[in-house]
Amino acid sequence: MKLVRLILATLALTSGVYAAEPLSTVTVYKTPTCGCCNGWVKYLRDNGFTVETHDLSNLAALKARFGLTQKRLMSCHTAIVDGYVVEGHVPADDVRRLIHEKPDIVGITAPGMPQLSPGMFSLEPKDYDVLSFDENGNVDIFSSY
Ligand code: CU
Ligand code: CU
Repeated sequence: MKLVRLILATLALTSGVYAAEPLSTVTVYKTPTCGCCNGWVKYLRDNGFTVETHDLSNLAALKARFGLTQKRLMSCHTAIVDGYVVEGHVPADDVRRLIHEKPDIVGITAPGMPQLSPGMFSLEPKDYDVLSFDENGNVDIFSSY
């Protein structure tokens, strides 16, 4: 047990701003043939997250159930972490910040398929915004790259 904690603490030290906190499990819903979804899952794992994946043929009902109803906010996969929705190719730092700050929102999203995003063609996020959205339909910029 002690050894596990030591290993976790060492891993945490090496991985970013909010890394001192234990990382929650991320549950990812995706379609079975989505290559970039698998890319994002691998990226999250490489960043210390435990990731569970579920393949579904259609994600529309699931997105609606989790409160993601605006088409313009949607992307290829939908993840849940600590009760928040994380939609699309969101950088690991934003997931950590979300868990850390616990804002009063439904979740965060990188709408569409940003070309220079983790899981797509750049591990370093570039040229896109991550947006937050709440249950009243309010959308804000969560972070910009
Ligand atoms: Cu994608
Ligand atoms: Cu995806």
